[in-house]
Amino acid sequence: ELGPYRHFMQKEIHEQPRAIADTIEAVMGANAFVPELFGASAGEVLREVEGVQIIACGTSYYAGLTARYWIEAISGLPCSVEIASEYRYRKVVANPKQLVVTISQSGETLDTMEALKYAKSLGHDKTLSICNVPESAIPRASRLVYYTRAGAEIGVASTKAFTTQLVALFTLAVTLAKLQGRLSPEHEAEHLDALRRLPGSVQHALNLEPQIIGWAERFAPKQHALFLGRGVHYPIALEGALKLKEISYIHAEAYPAGELKHGPLALVDSAMPVVVIAPNDSLLEKVKSNMQEVRARGGELFVFADDDSQFGSSDGVHVIRAPRHVGVLSPVVHAIPVQLLAYHAALARGTDVDKPRNLAKSVTVE
Ligand code: M6R
Repeated sequence: ELGPYRHFMQKEIHEQPRAIADTIEAVMGANAFVPELFGASAGEVLREVEGVQIIACGTSYYAGLTARYWIEAISGLPCSVEIASEYRYRKVVANPKQLVVTISQSGETLDTMEALKYAKSLGHDKTLSICNVPESAIPRASRLVYYTRAGAEIGVASTKAFTTQLVALFTLAVTLAKLQGRLSPEHEAEHLDALRRLPGSVQHALNLEPQIIGWAERFAPKQHALFLGRGVHYPIALEGALKLKEISYIHAEAYPAGELKHGPLALVDSAMPVVVIAPNDSLLEKVKSNMQEVRARGGELFVFADDDSQFGSSDGVHVIRAPRHVGVLSPVVHAIPVQLLAYHAALARGTDVDKPRNLAKSVTVE
């Protein structure tokens, strides 16, 4: 069942080009972003939407945080994202014109299910679930559904579910933009093209594995690590820190890089490795100055960059470069190296990668 792989997590990381290709198959088949991708009656629901409320837990929540950047930038609709266990227990001011999007790999996460029930009790009837398990509880309780087609995910650490959730959410952002009259045919063609090329770009990122193994060996003896990103890559930093702590038990925290000097910079010394997600986007110059702040305190930098990022390795600065900058879908590609880093650090530490201590694959209790 594992084929050439040592663990399900490693296998599932490597399945991502195929999982993404399968998940976007319907979009490619339609050669357009059409509401029917989300269900037969989705047109009438999505057309009336005035905002988006995303609800999820864990890695699925980080997919939601990434989607907020896309939804607001591409569709112009306001979007908020909340952890399900928080949403379900607070007095929410509901706006039933919002689309409530729940994201769940398993479709059985109790907090997400209860948050969805609570949203419905507040009058939300425009509900969409993004889910990897057909006919599970959460999609059954939702009006619309987009199934990610990652295939069974067995490792407790979510990997291929995350990147397929991202492409489903990107598809949602562009579809909403089209219904809002904000998508020119040229932009639609560009987004289709970006999605079509994505499995190839993800494969290129997977090919960086030998370099990442080198980094993981340096990480294995560490007690702590910091992950930094900005903008749409900040949630990828969060996801990288979650992956590392979950399977290697190295304490890791993620910050939006601009927050460094508001506190976490105090932690930085030569014992603190700092992972930076630094593709070439409009925030790159700002990220570079954040990196200098780390270097000035002796922190060792491990930078995931891309071909256009225009900096190389130097003393205390290690750079791994993805072969090309993939534009708006860059967070999907940058999820790969942080997954591989966590996997290989865990391997070097000898932890039970597929079944980390204290955790269950599907959290069906509170
Ligand atoms: O099945 P779900 O997507 O609802 O699960 C949510 C979280 O429990 C899950 O993503 C968890 O954080 C993973 N173990 C992270 O790798």
